[in-house]
Amino acid sequence: MADTYDFGLVGLGVMGRNFILNVADNGFTAFGNDLDEEKVQALIKEGGDPTKVNATTDVKTFVQSLATPRKIMLLVPAGKIVDSVIEGLLPHLDKGDIIIDGGNSFYTDTDRREAYLKEKGINFFGAGVSGGAEGARKGPSIMPGGSKEAYQHVKPIFEAVSAKYKGEPCVAYLGPKSAGNYVKMVHNGIEYGLMQLTSEIYDLLKKAAGLTNEELHKTYAKWNEGRLQSFLVEITSEIFAQKDDLTDKDLVDMILDKAKQKGTGKWTSQNAMDLGIPVPTIDIAVSMREISALKAERIKADELYDRPTPKAVDKNNFAIKAEQALYFAFIITYAQGMHQLADASKEYGYELKLGEIAKIWRAGCIIRAALLADITKAYQADENLQNLLLSPSFVEKVKNTVDAARELVSYGAENGIPLPGLTNALTYFDAYTSSRLPLNLIQAQRDYFGSHTYERLDREGIFHTEWEK
Ligand code: 6PG
Repeated sequence: MADTYDFGLVGLGVMGRNFILNVADNGFTAFGNDLDEEKVQALIKEGGDPTKVNATTDVKTFVQSLATPRKIMLLVPAGKIVDSVIEGLLPHLDKGDIIIDGGNSFYTDTDRREAYLKEKGINFFGAGVSGGAEGARKGPSIMPGGSKEAYQHVKPIFEAVSAKYKGEPCVAYLGPKSAGNYVKMVHNGIEYGLMQLTSEIYDLLKKAAGLTNEELHKTYAKWNEGRLQSFLVEITSEIFAQKDDLTDKDLVDMILDKAKQKGTGKWTSQNAMDLGIPVPTIDIAVSMREISALKAERIKADELYDRPTPKAVDKNNFAIKAEQALYFAFIITYAQGMHQLADASKEYGYELKLGEIAKIWRAGCIIRAALLADITKAYQADENLQNLLLSPSFVEKVKNTVDAARELVSYGAENGIPLPGLTNALTYFDAYTSSRLPLNLIQAQRDYFGSHTYERLDREGIFHTEWEK
C-alpha cells in the first residue's frame, strides 16, 4: 500500500498513539513510525485494519507509504530528538512535503528548523497540541503556525480531529514561523497560573474554612456548573473524591507537595520579561513550583518560625468569597497571557488574531473554560484590545469580584496562608488600573545616583537635576 496513506506520525508514545487513532476515526488513513517495535505492533493491533492504520520501525518504508505532499507529524519530546527525527526523515522526503512538530518545542527552535527546512523545500509547522492523552484521542485544541499555503493540505485533517466547540473546530492557522509554538507556550503559562490559583483557594478553604475533601469535591463541582466552568476546576473536583489504592486515605492527602515542571511556564515568564510585558501571576506560579521543590528547607524553616493559627470563618460565606476571588484571578491570568500574545505578535511578526486564539481554546485544551467564550467575544468586538481589563464587557465582571479577592488576600496575609497567585493578580489589577504610581520616585532616585534623567508631568523634554545641591 505505498504512497496512499493520508497522514504520518512519528512517535507512538501515549500522545502519538492516541492522536493517530483519532485521525483514523475521522476517516483518514494513517501510518505510524517509532523505533520501538512493541509500540509499532501495539498500534497495528489497536488500529484493527492495517489498510487504515499501519506502522513500521523503518523510516524509509514509513515515508514511502504516505501520499504526497506528505504530512508527517512528530509527537516526540521537545529538544534534540526533534532535530534527529528530522534528519532521519530528510533523505526520503520530496519538495513540498510537510513536517509538523506537535510537541512543546521552544519557539526559537521552531524558527531555526523552519528556516533550515525551507532551504530544502520542506514546509515546517510548529503546532501546539493541548488536551493530554484524552484530548489527543477524542479531540485536542491544535495551534499550528507556519506557511499559510501549506496549511491548506493539513487543514482538513486537523479540523476533523480537533475538539469542537458548538460544532466549531478548535484549530486555526495562527500565523507564520513559530506562531503556533509561541501561542502554546503562553497557553501553558496561563495553565500554570490557573493551577496555582486553584491550589491556593484549596489551601484557604481547607485551612481557614475547614472544608473536608468531600466538601471540597462538592464545592469545586458546584463551581464547575457556573461561571468558573473549566477543565481545571472540573478535574480538581474529581481529584478530591479520589481514594488512595495503597492506604485507606484520600489520594490528594498522600501526594508529595513538590510540583515538577517541564519548562513552558518558565519560558513564558522569561519571554514576557524580554518583551517588557508584566505577567506576574504566571511568574509567581513558576516561582511557587520552585519553592515547592525546596521541601527539605521548608521543613527546617517551618520549625524556626511561628505561624498564626487561622481565625475561624463562616464556611459558606467564605466559599462564596473564594468563588468570586478565583473568578477574578482567572480573568487576570488570561488578561496577562493575552497581553503577552498581543505584544509578541508585533515583536515577532506573527500577525496573531487574539479572538481566533481564544476561540480555539474554548474546547479541547487544558485551559478551556466558560470564560473563554467571553474572552473570544471581547476580542471579536475589538481585535486591537490592548488588555482584557480595558474591554467594557469585563468591567462589571471584575468590579463584582475584586472585593472578594481583597478580603481573601488580607485574610491570607493575617493568618499566614500564602496566596501569591491571588495576591499578584490583585496587585497587578491595582497597579494596572492606577493612573498614578509611585514610580516617579524611582525616576528621581535613578537621576539622583546615576544622572539617568527623568520626564515631567507638566512639560515635554528630558530633565536632570543636581540633587545634592
Ligand atoms: C497541554 C499541557 C501539556 C504540558 C503539561 C505538563 O496543553 O496538554 O500543557 O502540553 O506538557 O501540562 O506541563 P508541566 O510538566 O510543565 O507542568
